[in-house]
Amino acid sequence: MSLLDIGGGLGGIQHALFERGLNQATHVDASSAYLRAAESEANRRIFTERIEFLKGDFVDLAKNISPADIVTLDRVICCYDDMQSLVKLSAEKAKMIYGLVFPRDLWLFRVLLPIVNFIISLTGTPFRIFIHRSEDVNRLLMEEGLLPVFHQSAGFWQILVFDRK
Ligand SMILES: C[S@@+](CC[C@H](N)C(=O)[O-])C[C@H]1O[C@@H](n2cnc3c(N)ncnc32)[C@H](O)[C@@H]1O
Repeated sequence: MSLLDIGGGLGGIQHALFERGLNQATHVDASSAYLRAAESEANRRIFTERIEFLKGDFVDLAKNISPADIVTLDRVICCYDDMQSLVKLSAEKAKMIYGLVFPRDLWLFRVLLPIVNFIISLTGTPFRIFIHRSEDVNRLLMEEGLLPVFHQSAGFWQILVFDRK
């Protein structure tokens, strides 16, 4: 089995799946700091040779990235404004399973979001949080031939898994 982990952070999903039979992973991340930390952690766990690390925005790199059995975006689409491109291009890469975690689309979170983003902006970072509509994400994935098989809410987050039809 192969994994494409977009915005994989420190690589937690990769390491968990290697322990359960995953053969190969591609980790694409826009953050060099995260990639450096992920590489160091992969070294420590002796997984480095099985992971390809790619630095950049997945939307820009997508055409050069091979499909994988499993595609994951854990708390990634909420850091990215062009959700449609990110979801559509990543869904095209999923041969079997597509998993994502993103904020629940609740009115309370929508009301609080501008305040949270304002506080973040005071730190001088360009980073912002986006709450994308769940129905838009679901629709895009289903248009790409993926069917929802699992959904769970966990506080601020929702966890979704889709299977290729
Ligand atoms: C909040 S962190 C989550 C990290 C990890 N998945 C986790 O759950 O711990 C979001 C990550 O997604 C990356 N990211 C966001 N949009 C991206 C994009 N379009 N292409 C590649 N990486 C992206 C960020 O650089 C960051 O490493």
